[in-house]
Amino acid sequence: MSLTTRFTEAIGIEHPIVQGGMMWVGRAELAGAVSEAGGLGIITALTQPTPADLVKEVERARRLTDKPIGVNLTILPSINPPPYDEYRRAIVDAGVTIVETAGSSPEPHMEMFREHGIKVIHKCTSVRHALKAEKLGVTAVSIDGFECAGHPGEDDVPGLVLIPAAADALSIPFIASGGFGDGRGLAAALALGADGVNMGSRFMCTVESPISQTVKERIVEASELDTNLIFRSLRNTARVAKNAVSDEVVEILAAGGQFPDVQPLVAGARGRKVFEDGDLDAGIWTVGLVQGLIRDIPNAGEVVRRIVADAEAVLRAKLALFGEPAVAPVG
Ligand SMILES: Cc1cc2nc3c(=O)[nH]c(=O)nc-3n(C[C@H](O)[C@H](O)[C@H](O)COP(=O)(O)O)c2cc1C
Repeated sequence: MSLTTRFTEAIGIEHPIVQGGMMWVGRAELAGAVSEAGGLGIITALTQPTPADLVKEVERARRLTDKPIGVNLTILPSINPPPYDEYRRAIVDAGVTIVETAGSSPEPHMEMFREHGIKVIHKCTSVRHALKAEKLGVTAVSIDGFECAGHPGEDDVPGLVLIPAAADALSIPFIASGGFGDGRGLAAALALGADGVNMGSRFMCTVESPISQTVKERIVEASELDTNLIFRSLRNTARVAKNAVSDEVVEILAAGGQFPDVQPLVAGARGRKVFEDGDLDAGIWTVGLVQGLIRDIPNAGEVVRRIVADAEAVLRAKLALFGEPAVAPVG
Protein backbone atom coordinates (compact mmCIF):
# COMPACT_ATOMS: atom_id res chain seq x y z
CA MET A 1 0.00 0.00 0.00
CA SER A 2 1.31 3.48 -0.79
CA LEU A 3 0.00 6.84 0.36
CA THR A 4 0.03 9.41 -2.43
CA THR A 5 -0.15 13.16 -1.79
CA ARG A 6 0.95 16.30 -3.61
CA PHE A 7 4.21 16.00 -1.66
CA THR A 8 5.00 12.40 -2.66
CA GLU A 9 4.28 13.31 -6.28
CA ALA A 10 6.40 16.46 -6.24
CA ILE A 11 9.35 14.77 -4.55
CA GLY A 12 9.03 11.37 -6.19
CA ILE A 13 8.67 9.10 -3.15
CA GLU A 14 6.14 6.47 -2.09
CA HIS A 15 5.01 7.64 1.37
CA PRO A 16 4.71 11.21 2.71
CA ILE A 17 7.14 10.64 5.57
CA VAL A 18 10.47 12.48 5.83
CA GLN A 19 13.33 11.93 8.24
CA GLY A 20 14.48 15.50 8.87
CA GLY A 21 18.15 16.48 9.04
CA MET A 22 19.71 15.70 12.42
CA MET A 23 23.17 16.76 13.51
CA TRP A 24 25.27 13.66 14.42
CA VAL A 25 22.29 11.38 13.68
CA GLY A 26 21.49 11.89 9.99
CA ARG A 27 24.03 9.51 8.51
CA ALA A 28 23.86 6.99 5.65
CA GLU A 29 22.46 4.00 7.53
CA LEU A 30 19.43 5.88 8.89
CA ALA A 31 18.70 7.87 5.73
CA GLY A 32 19.17 4.75 3.58
CA ALA A 33 16.72 2.73 5.69
CA VAL A 34 14.01 5.43 5.58
CA SER A 35 14.34 5.89 1.81
CA GLU A 36 14.40 2.15 1.18
CA ALA A 37 11.04 1.90 3.03
CA GLY A 38 9.53 4.49 0.68
CA GLY A 39 9.94 7.61 2.83
CA LEU A 40 12.60 10.28 2.32
CA GLY A 41 15.81 9.78 4.28
CA ILE A 42 18.03 12.82 4.72
CA ILE A 43 21.78 12.94 5.34
CA THR A 44 22.88 15.94 7.41
CA ALA A 45 25.63 17.75 5.50
CA LEU A 46 27.34 19.40 8.47
CA THR A 47 27.68 16.11 10.38
CA GLN A 48 30.36 15.28 7.82
CA PRO A 49 33.69 16.91 8.68
CA THR A 50 34.37 18.03 5.11
CA PRO A 51 32.41 18.44 1.85
CA ALA A 52 34.41 15.51 0.40
CA ASP A 53 33.21 13.32 3.28
CA LEU A 54 29.64 14.33 2.45
CA VAL A 55 30.07 13.00 -1.09
CA LYS A 56 31.35 9.69 0.37
CA GLU A 57 28.43 9.53 2.81
CA VAL A 58 25.92 9.95 -0.02
CA GLU A 59 27.70 7.13 -1.89
CA ARG A 60 27.45 4.97 1.24
CA ALA A 61 23.69 5.61 1.43
CA ARG A 62 23.32 4.72 -2.25
CA ARG A 63 24.76 1.30 -1.50
CA LEU A 64 21.78 0.80 0.88
CA THR A 65 19.03 1.95 -1.48
CA ASP A 66 18.51 3.06 -5.05
CA LYS A 67 15.55 5.25 -4.03
CA PRO A 68 15.93 9.05 -3.63
CA ILE A 69 18.05 10.31 -0.72
CA GLY A 70 18.05 13.93 0.45
CA VAL A 71 20.70 16.10 2.08
CA ASN A 72 20.02 18.69 4.80
CA LEU A 73 21.90 21.98 4.61
CA THR A 74 21.41 23.93 7.84
CA ILE A 75 22.47 27.54 7.44
CA LEU A 76 22.79 29.18 10.85
CA PRO A 77 24.50 32.42 11.77
CA SER A 78 27.79 31.54 13.44
CA ILE A 79 31.07 33.13 14.49
CA ASN A 80 33.05 30.66 12.37
CA PRO A 81 30.61 29.58 9.65
CA PRO A 82 31.25 26.28 7.90
CA PRO A 83 32.07 26.57 4.17
CA TYR A 84 28.42 26.46 3.05
CA ASP A 85 29.26 27.05 -0.59
CA GLU A 86 31.60 24.06 -0.61
CA TYR A 87 28.98 21.81 0.99
CA ARG A 88 26.47 23.05 -1.61
CA ARG A 89 28.98 22.18 -4.36
CA ALA A 90 29.42 18.71 -2.80
CA ILE A 91 25.64 18.18 -2.87
CA VAL A 92 25.65 18.93 -6.60
CA ASP A 93 28.77 16.83 -7.25
CA ALA A 94 27.24 13.86 -5.40
CA GLY A 95 24.27 13.97 -7.77
CA VAL A 96 21.78 14.59 -4.96
CA THR A 97 18.36 15.60 -6.29
CA ILE A 98 16.58 16.67 -3.08
CA VAL A 99 17.82 19.15 -0.48
CA GLU A 100 16.28 20.18 2.84
CA THR A 101 17.35 23.72 3.72
CA ALA A 102 16.87 25.11 7.23
CA GLY A 103 18.12 27.77 9.61
CA SER A 104 17.78 30.81 7.35
CA SER A 105 16.57 31.79 3.89
CA PRO A 106 17.60 29.38 1.12
CA GLU A 107 17.90 32.36 -1.27
CA PRO A 108 21.71 32.37 -1.72
CA HIS A 109 21.62 28.70 -2.70
CA MET A 110 18.55 28.58 -4.91
CA GLU A 111 20.16 29.53 -8.20
CA MET A 112 22.69 26.71 -8.12
CA PHE A 113 20.11 24.16 -6.96
CA ARG A 114 17.71 25.28 -9.69
CA GLU A 115 20.46 25.07 -12.33
CA HIS A 116 21.06 21.44 -11.41
CA GLY A 117 17.40 20.46 -11.17
CA ILE A 118 17.62 19.94 -7.39
CA LYS A 119 14.30 20.02 -5.54
CA VAL A 120 14.38 22.12 -2.38
CA ILE A 121 12.28 21.44 0.71
CA HIS A 122 12.68 24.48 2.94
CA LYS A 123 12.06 23.91 6.65
CA CYS A 124 10.86 26.91 8.63
CA THR A 125 8.76 27.77 11.67
CA SER A 126 6.32 30.43 10.48
CA VAL A 127 3.81 31.00 7.70
CA ARG A 128 5.60 34.22 6.66
CA HIS A 129 8.89 32.39 6.11
CA ALA A 130 7.05 29.60 4.29
CA LEU A 131 5.49 32.14 1.93
CA LYS A 132 8.89 33.71 1.33
CA ALA A 133 10.33 30.30 0.43
CA GLU A 134 7.40 29.64 -1.89
CA LYS A 135 8.18 32.92 -3.71
CA LEU A 136 11.83 31.85 -4.02
CA GLY A 137 10.69 28.79 -5.94
CA VAL A 138 11.19 25.91 -3.48
CA THR A 139 9.39 22.68 -4.36
CA ALA A 140 7.86 22.20 -0.91
CA VAL A 141 7.92 23.54 2.62
CA SER A 142 8.33 21.69 5.91
CA ILE A 143 6.70 23.67 8.69
CA ASP A 144 7.99 23.09 12.21
CA GLY A 145 5.57 23.74 15.09
CA PHE A 146 6.51 24.76 18.62
CA GLU A 147 6.54 21.07 19.64
CA CYS A 148 9.62 20.33 17.53
CA ALA A 149 13.06 19.22 18.56
CA GLY A 150 15.73 21.80 17.81
CA HIS A 151 14.84 25.34 16.80
CA PRO A 152 11.10 26.16 17.03
CA GLY A 153 11.64 29.90 16.37
CA GLU A 154 10.26 32.60 18.65
CA ASP A 155 6.55 32.67 17.71
CA ASP A 156 5.54 29.68 19.85
CA VAL A 157 2.73 28.57 17.54
CA PRO A 158 2.01 24.83 17.93
CA GLY A 159 1.11 22.61 15.00
CA LEU A 160 -2.62 22.58 15.69
CA VAL A 161 -2.82 26.19 14.52
CA LEU A 162 0.36 26.49 12.43
CA ILE A 163 -0.50 23.63 10.05
CA PRO A 164 -3.98 24.82 8.97
CA ALA A 165 -2.66 28.40 8.85
CA ALA A 166 0.05 27.20 6.44
CA ALA A 167 -2.54 25.22 4.45
CA ASP A 168 -4.63 28.37 4.00
CA ALA A 169 -1.67 30.47 2.88
CA LEU A 170 0.48 28.21 0.69
CA SER A 171 -0.09 26.95 -2.84
CA ILE A 172 2.87 24.52 -2.96
CA PRO A 173 2.87 21.14 -1.15
CA PHE A 174 3.97 21.24 2.48
CA ILE A 175 4.62 18.77 5.28
CA ALA A 176 3.96 19.20 8.98
CA SER A 177 6.85 18.84 11.40
CA GLY A 178 7.23 18.79 15.17
CA GLY A 179 5.49 16.36 17.47
CA PHE A 180 4.80 13.61 14.92
CA GLY A 181 5.62 10.03 15.82
CA ASP A 182 2.75 7.72 14.95
CA GLY A 183 -0.16 7.05 12.61
CA ARG A 184 -2.49 9.29 14.57
CA GLY A 185 -0.11 12.17 13.96
CA LEU A 186 0.06 11.54 10.21
CA ALA A 187 -3.75 11.26 10.02
CA ALA A 188 -4.06 14.54 11.95
CA ALA A 189 -1.50 16.30 9.74
CA LEU A 190 -3.40 15.25 6.62
CA ALA A 191 -6.70 16.35 8.17
CA LEU A 192 -5.20 19.75 9.02
CA GLY A 193 -4.22 20.28 5.40
CA ALA A 194 -0.59 19.07 5.25
CA ASP A 195 0.67 16.72 2.56
CA GLY A 196 2.77 14.59 4.90
CA VAL A 197 5.00 14.70 7.97
CA ASN A 198 8.61 15.34 8.83
CA MET A 199 10.03 13.61 11.93
CA GLY A 200 13.28 13.84 13.83
CA SER A 201 12.92 12.40 17.34
CA ARG A 202 10.96 9.32 16.18
CA PHE A 203 13.68 8.33 13.70
CA MET A 204 16.40 9.13 16.22
CA CYS A 205 15.00 6.30 18.34
CA THR A 206 15.34 3.48 15.79
CA VAL A 207 17.75 0.60 15.28
CA GLU A 208 19.60 2.33 12.39
CA SER A 209 20.03 5.63 14.24
CA PRO A 210 23.81 5.78 14.80
CA ILE A 211 23.73 6.89 18.45
CA SER A 212 24.22 5.17 21.79
CA GLN A 213 21.55 2.68 22.87
CA THR A 214 21.45 4.48 26.25
CA VAL A 215 20.12 7.64 24.58
CA LYS A 216 17.43 5.66 22.74
CA GLU A 217 16.37 3.97 25.99
CA ARG A 218 16.23 7.37 27.69
CA ILE A 219 13.87 8.62 24.95
CA VAL A 220 11.60 5.61 25.51
CA GLU A 221 11.54 6.27 29.29
CA ALA A 222 11.11 10.05 29.02
CA SER A 223 7.78 11.85 28.96
CA GLU A 224 6.57 14.92 27.09
CA LEU A 225 7.65 16.94 30.11
CA ASP A 226 11.32 16.07 29.76
CA THR A 227 12.55 18.81 27.45
CA ASN A 228 13.95 22.29 28.12
CA LEU A 229 13.79 25.43 25.99
CA ILE A 230 17.24 27.00 26.10
CA PHE A 231 18.43 30.35 24.66
CA ARG A 232 14.99 31.94 25.01
CA SER A 233 16.42 35.27 26.21
CA LEU A 234 18.91 35.25 23.33
CA ARG A 235 16.05 34.83 20.82
CA ASN A 236 17.64 31.68 19.48
CA THR A 237 15.40 29.16 21.24
CA ALA A 238 16.26 25.47 21.07
CA ARG A 239 14.22 22.57 22.43
CA VAL A 240 16.58 20.00 23.94
CA ALA A 241 16.51 17.10 26.37
CA LYS A 242 16.07 18.05 30.00
CA ASN A 243 19.25 17.11 31.86
CA ALA A 244 21.70 18.61 34.35
CA VAL A 245 23.39 20.72 31.66
CA SER A 246 20.26 22.16 30.01
CA ASP A 247 18.79 22.90 33.49
CA GLU A 248 21.96 24.86 34.31
CA VAL A 249 21.82 26.78 31.02
CA VAL A 250 18.18 27.75 31.63
CA GLU A 251 19.05 28.88 35.17
CA ILE A 252 22.06 31.00 34.14
CA LEU A 253 20.20 32.75 31.32
CA ALA A 254 17.08 33.31 33.45
CA ALA A 255 19.31 35.05 36.00
CA GLY A 256 20.46 37.51 33.32
CA GLY A 257 23.45 35.57 31.99
CA GLN A 258 24.67 36.05 28.43
CA PHE A 259 25.92 33.61 25.80
CA PRO A 260 29.58 33.65 26.97
CA ASP A 261 28.35 32.52 30.41
CA VAL A 262 26.89 29.32 28.97
CA GLN A 263 29.18 28.79 25.98
CA PRO A 264 31.31 26.06 27.59
CA LEU A 265 28.15 24.18 28.63
CA VAL A 266 26.61 24.16 25.16
CA ALA A 267 29.70 23.20 23.15
CA GLY A 268 28.80 20.91 20.23
CA ALA A 269 31.60 18.50 21.14
CA ARG A 270 29.93 17.83 24.52
CA GLY A 271 26.58 17.08 22.86
CA ARG A 272 28.29 14.73 20.46
CA LYS A 273 29.75 12.86 23.44
CA VAL A 274 26.20 12.13 24.68
CA PHE A 275 25.39 10.39 21.40
CA GLU A 276 28.72 8.57 21.15
CA ASP A 277 29.28 7.51 24.77
CA GLY A 278 25.72 7.44 26.11
CA ASP A 279 26.67 9.82 28.93
CA LEU A 280 23.28 11.58 29.18
CA ASP A 281 24.63 14.52 31.19
CA ALA A 282 27.77 15.12 29.11
CA GLY A 283 26.21 18.04 27.25
CA ILE A 284 23.22 19.42 25.41
CA TRP A 285 21.35 17.01 23.13
CA THR A 286 18.30 17.56 21.01
CA VAL A 287 14.92 15.83 21.29
CA GLY A 288 11.28 16.92 21.02
CA LEU A 289 8.08 16.71 23.06
CA VAL A 290 7.03 13.69 21.01
CA GLN A 291 9.40 11.56 23.06
CA GLY A 292 6.41 11.17 25.38
CA LEU A 293 4.76 9.09 22.64
CA ILE A 294 7.85 7.03 21.71
CA ARG A 295 7.75 3.66 23.43
CA ASP A 296 10.01 1.39 21.41
CA ILE A 297 13.16 1.19 19.27
CA PRO A 298 12.06 -0.38 15.96
CA ASN A 299 13.78 -0.44 12.58
CA ALA A 300 13.37 2.84 10.69
CA GLY A 301 11.59 1.04 7.83
CA GLU A 302 9.14 -0.44 10.33
CA VAL A 303 8.38 3.11 11.57
CA VAL A 304 7.49 4.20 8.02
CA ARG A 305 5.30 1.15 7.32
CA ARG A 306 3.58 1.25 10.70
CA ILE A 307 2.76 4.94 10.51
CA VAL A 308 1.22 4.60 7.05
CA ALA A 309 -0.86 1.54 8.08
CA ASP A 310 -1.95 3.12 11.39
CA ALA A 311 -2.89 6.42 9.72
CA GLU A 312 -5.07 4.52 7.28
CA ALA A 313 -6.73 2.59 10.13
CA VAL A 314 -7.36 5.83 12.07
CA LEU A 315 -8.88 7.59 9.07
CA ARG A 316 -11.08 4.61 8.13
CA ALA A 317 -12.32 4.26 11.71
CA LYS A 318 -13.17 7.97 11.89
CA LEU A 319 -14.99 7.84 8.55
CA ALA A 320 -17.12 5.02 9.95
CA LEU A 321 -18.36 7.46 12.61
CA PHE A 322 -20.22 9.23 9.83
CA GLY A 323 -22.17 6.08 9.09
CA GLU A 324 -20.23 5.49 5.87
CA PRO A 325 -20.78 2.08 4.28
CA ALA A 326 -18.61 -0.58 5.98
CA VAL A 327 -15.02 -0.53 4.71
CA ALA A 328 -12.67 -3.45 4.35
CA PRO A 329 -10.59 -4.08 7.48
CA VAL A 330 -7.02 -2.86 7.30
CA GLY A 331 -4.07 -5.23 7.43
C1 LIG B 1 19.07 15.07 17.43
C2 LIG B 1 18.45 16.07 16.50
C3 LIG B 1 19.27 16.89 15.75
C4 LIG B 1 18.71 17.82 14.85
N1 LIG B 1 19.55 18.55 14.06
C5 LIG B 1 19.01 19.32 13.07
C6 LIG B 1 19.86 19.99 12.13
O1 LIG B 1 21.08 19.90 12.19
N2 LIG B 1 19.27 20.72 11.15
C7 LIG B 1 17.91 20.83 11.04
O2 LIG B 1 17.43 21.49 10.11
N3 LIG B 1 17.10 20.23 11.93
C8 LIG B 1 17.61 19.48 12.92
N4 LIG B 1 16.77 18.81 13.79
C9 LIG B 1 15.30 18.99 13.66
C10 LIG B 1 14.64 17.88 12.82
O3 LIG B 1 15.09 17.86 11.50
C11 LIG B 1 13.11 18.06 12.80
O4 LIG B 1 12.78 19.30 12.22
C12 LIG B 1 12.53 17.97 14.20
O5 LIG B 1 13.12 16.91 14.91
C13 LIG B 1 11.02 17.76 14.13
O6 LIG B 1 10.51 17.61 15.42
P1 LIG B 1 10.26 16.16 16.12
O7 LIG B 1 11.55 15.80 16.75
O8 LIG B 1 9.16 16.42 17.06
O9 LIG B 1 9.89 15.19 15.03
C14 LIG B 1 17.30 17.92 14.74
C15 LIG B 1 16.48 17.11 15.53
C16 LIG B 1 17.03 16.19 16.39
C17 LIG B 1 16.12 15.31 17.21
